[in-house]
Amino acid sequence: MKHRILVIDDEAAIRESLRMILEYEEYAFVGASSGQEGLAVVQRDRPDLVLLDIKMPGMDGMEVLRKLRALDETLPVVMISGHGTTSTAVDAIKSGAIDFLDKPLSSERVIVTLQNVLKQQELRQENRELKLAMESRYEIVGDSPALRAVLEAVKRAAPTNATVMLLGESGVGKELVARTIHRNSPRAGQRFVQVNCAAIPEELIESELFGHEKGSFTGATEKQIGKFEQADRGTIFLDEIGDMSPKTQAKVLRVLQEQEVERLGSARTIKVDVRVIAATNKDLEEGIQRGEFREDLFFRLNVIPIVVPPLRDRRDDIPQLVQHFARRTSDEHNLKPKRFDARAMEALQRYRWRGNIRELRNTVERLMIMTSGDMVRVEDLPPDIRGDAPARTTVPDAPSAASAGAATAGSSAAQPGGTLREFKDASERAYLVQKLRENNWNISKTAEVIDTPRSNLYKKLEQYGIKQEVDG
Ligand SMILES: Nc1ncnc2c1ncn2[C@@H]1O[C@H](COP(=O)(O)OP(=O)(O)OP(=O)(O)O)[C@@H](O)[C@H]1O
Ligand SMILES: [Mg+2]
Repeated sequence: MKHRILVIDDEAAIRESLRMILEYEEYAFVGASSGQEGLAVVQRDRPDLVLLDIKMPGMDGMEVLRKLRALDETLPVVMISGHGTTSTAVDAIKSGAIDFLDKPLSSERVIVTLQNVLKQQELRQENRELKLAMESRYEIVGDSPALRAVLEAVKRAAPTNATVMLLGESGVGKELVARTIHRNSPRAGQRFVQVNCAAIPEELIESELFGHEKGSFTGATEKQIGKFEQADRGTIFLDEIGDMSPKTQAKVLRVLQEQEVERLGSARTIKVDVRVIAATNKDLEEGIQRGEFREDLFFRLNVIPIVVPPLRDRRDDIPQLVQHFARRTSDEHNLKPKRFDARAMEALQRYRWRGNIRELRNTVERLMIMTSGDMVRVEDLPPDIRGDAPARTTVPDAPSAASAGAATAGSSAAQPGGTLREFKDASERAYLVQKLRENNWNISKTAEVIDTPRSNLYKKLEQYGIKQEVDG
């Protein structure tokens, strides 16, 4: 994407020479001949950087700078100083300009300065995003009695080395709890390694978990370190443990008993010190009855069971969660904050949420992006959540008819707000859910039908949090 540079300078000759320099370097140039005009441009289409002349008739550069800062603190401004304004340039830096350029302008200086500033800006932005993600992503929101009981158990389990088994429906927050345990354990400084036992093809899971030596099987062109080894001195999170094959179960049991692993194709054993957290949304005892899950492995893993209750058993948490996800979405996507009116909130609290918090989160995100105005009303909700349509038998994560329609056909039911990117994502998601449904959630089949590699489809499912409903 081209960076857009706004040049505010009253001298046409300067604007013109900057335009040539910038366009030659593939920047998009926007010119303004006065402070007023420049401010209008900034409000209309936000540039990535402003080059601002200090000495201009009417509103001078310092005043424009102050106004720009008030408009948008994060917009980088580089001052252009002429003869006799160098000391002003220094003042400008104190007032928030990021750098300055002296006249006469050298094209090299201009380019180097722009590159530096934009790079710096990018890093800052990344930092902000990371911090935001770190803080809000791992926050466990809610204080219903049911959730408080979970947090109590977490507090007791975290400081120990004991194996924890997290039980609960899809989307209730098992992974979040697993990470919280790790972050509050003495191993917090070490790695948290996650293995999704359901997503890894049967024939690869052993080499994923235990690693392999180069040449140990066809396709093993490089040595691979397994997840258990990677997690040494840290925590391994065995997610969807109910989906492991009997053979893998036997090997995992051995690692847990012996605290050592063997890479495929190697006779050497390697000591590992890992804390295990396992999770499943399946009924493992039933699996044992049916002979699909090893009882001895179950007992090994089930040292501290923590049940994370479904959202419909802790509806008191819903308003807080809605606000949390609304805030997060608006921060992440640079959207205006929106409020949910009382009736909308009531409907959200009443709904069944088969997909639990993940479904709630996706619903809130979608509403934030697709609803126009600064208030989400009950009319904006998908019919089944509103309660005036027959309950869907579809997947919980599927966009509602209204928003999916808006995403694909641009219907007027919900005005797509936000950026092109958000619109594209929403459409892509709706498309994938549709195709998955048509193919009975058979991933390989769907990947084939839509002509994309299976790995890519898995990535998309992860990215959009698409999940098949268990009883759907
Ligand atoms: N109490 C909570 N507060 C804030 N966010 C939460 C809470 N519980 C869950 N979430 C969020 O909901 C989403 C789903 O949670 P998570 O992935 O931990 O569920 P899960 O139980 O592991 O689901 P699955 O069984 O489908 O893997 C995540 O984005 C998570 O951050
Ligand atoms: Mg999970």
